[in-house]
Amino acid sequence: MCGIVGYVGARPAGPILFDALRRLEYRGYDSSGIAVINGTGKAVVERSAGKLAALIESVGARMPEGSTGLGHTRWATHGSPTSRNAHPHSDCTGKYLVVHNGIVENYRDLKKRLVDSGHEFSSDTDSEVIAHLVEEKRASGLALHQAVSDSLDLLDGAFSVAIGAADEPGRIVAGRVGNGGGIVVGYGQDEMFLASDLPAIAPYARDAVYLKAGELAVMDTGGARYFDRDGVPVDRAPVPVTVGDVAFAKGGYKHFMLKEIMEQPESVTNLLRGRISFGPPDILLPELAGLAESLADIRRVIIVGMGTSLHAAAVGARMFETLARVPAVAENASEFRYRDPVIDPSTLVIAVSQSGETVDTLAAIEEARRRGARLMAVTNNEHSQASMLADWNLDIRAGTEIGVASTKCLTNSILALYLVACYAGRAKGLVSGGEVTGIVDDLAGLPSLVSRSLETDGAVRELARQLYRTDNYLVLGRGISYPVAMEGALKLKEVSYCHAEGYQAGEMKHGPIALIDEDIPVVAVALQDALYPKMVSNIEEVKARNGRVIAVATEGDEDIRSIADHVIHVPAVPDILSPLVSVIPLQFLAYHVAVTRGCDVDQPRNLAKSVTVE
Ligand code: M6R
Repeated sequence: MCGIVGYVGARPAGPILFDALRRLEYRGYDSSGIAVINGTGKAVVERSAGKLAALIESVGARMPEGSTGLGHTRWATHGSPTSRNAHPHSDCTGKYLVVHNGIVENYRDLKKRLVDSGHEFSSDTDSEVIAHLVEEKRASGLALHQAVSDSLDLLDGAFSVAIGAADEPGRIVAGRVGNGGGIVVGYGQDEMFLASDLPAIAPYARDAVYLKAGELAVMDTGGARYFDRDGVPVDRAPVPVTVGDVAFAKGGYKHFMLKEIMEQPESVTNLLRGRISFGPPDILLPELAGLAESLADIRRVIIVGMGTSLHAAAVGARMFETLARVPAVAENASEFRYRDPVIDPSTLVIAVSQSGETVDTLAAIEEARRRGARLMAVTNNEHSQASMLADWNLDIRAGTEIGVASTKCLTNSILALYLVACYAGRAKGLVSGGEVTGIVDDLAGLPSLVSRSLETDGAVRELARQLYRTDNYLVLGRGISYPVAMEGALKLKEVSYCHAEGYQAGEMKHGPIALIDEDIPVVAVALQDALYPKMVSNIEEVKARNGRVIAVATEGDEDIRSIADHVIHVPAVPDILSPLVSVIPLQFLAYHVAVTRGCDVDQPRNLAKSVTVE
């Protein structure tokens, strides 16, 4: 979704804004722009449709001078992705510059009122109303931050915004309304930075403050002041920026997606570090203090998420039922929030979100909170809104994930949920000491098995060369491999733009089998688990209809070659951990098909890394 950056300091703002925007490109966008305010009360705005490179090229040597500035990458919601609709937007006087991420839900009414009172609009966006409202408020004599605060009070929706004034260089006001997209305020030496996401400013900022819902920040060269939603000053202590620039480099890989697939042994190791002990064997999750005591009252677990995080949730729900014997389901957060769910304090709602900022997942958390549920967040950003809203927060420690298609965050989310399920099973006395020893041993061996699964890369690349012209796929799985099949299909859709359906293999005969012919590849996750014989029967049914089967099978299973056209072997692991190895060839398949088809793997069309609008 849209990305916001800002700078206040003594250096030329333009190059810093461009660099910061470049670091936000991974979020997905379709136009971009900057506004630079100089010391003479003037602001220069440059905007362009398309990629940031187009904006940089059009600015060329005409880099606007000034050391206060705002930048934006826009993911179009209201108005097509043209330079006219690109941000920053301004009011009638051109004095107030606005960059915005999210949706102003009541913009039509506001715009009508503003137009009736003489304001002229120059874009089709919802965002522009903010500039005109600030203009009005300022005309009534309010200070900039008060004018912004009063304007935001008039707006419905969840969003973040940053505003500068041409006649007030050296100051930016930023706000987060509701659970709208994140805002990070970065502290440098006599200079301040602002961004939707830390990667944009990580090389510049020493320390950072993550705005909470409803907060406003007023940034000057010397620092920032913070206000809550009632305008009351609040103390926000900056936390050190620990993530280095190297996290945002491709490290010799052609794409971030490939780098991140390859990082999985390391990210799995990071997640486990300090969380398993060998003497005595145990699962250590100090961040879940108090959960063990609450478990006796918890009758149900609902794990919510979207996209890939929903698939992790579906695996996690199975793990919970197996290990903690609590009824557990995974649910799409955008459905959960609107379906009037029956939940109460005996429900534990776990929100899985890589970013911790997905608007539907945040809304689901709030809905669950409103109804009294206990809340846990499983995120890759411990400063995110989801982490702040939950009673317990488990950091999945996957490291920065830049590729829009989530890979290492899937495996780490699954593994984090596994730890929670083991912890719950242990606390309830359902997982014995001997079983914990086995679990700890399995976990200790996991990174090397994930690493061995990466060896499927070559075979899958070769397969992708044969398949890349194919536009349709079926991906089948059963039991814990069903969410893996869903994830494999999602990856193909996202990065290769192939139509792919993930199905429970048992559902085939109820309709989808009509699709089978020699042209549609059927990827079957057919591991040697309890459901293997059933899966083999499903594969036979596909073969009987001339289907082309690609089996993801357990190492050593050579029999499957008699019914599958292609076999990709993954190492044997305990059934419950199998998604962590079986999903890897599916990630490779989507990646290599996408590369062979010439797709933009790291920034697929229409997609955004963090979905901060409904
Ligand atoms: O940040 P989140 O995990 O909450 O994001 C949820 C989905 O938007 C995300 O998983 C999306 O489906 C990815 N592009 C999948 O690769």
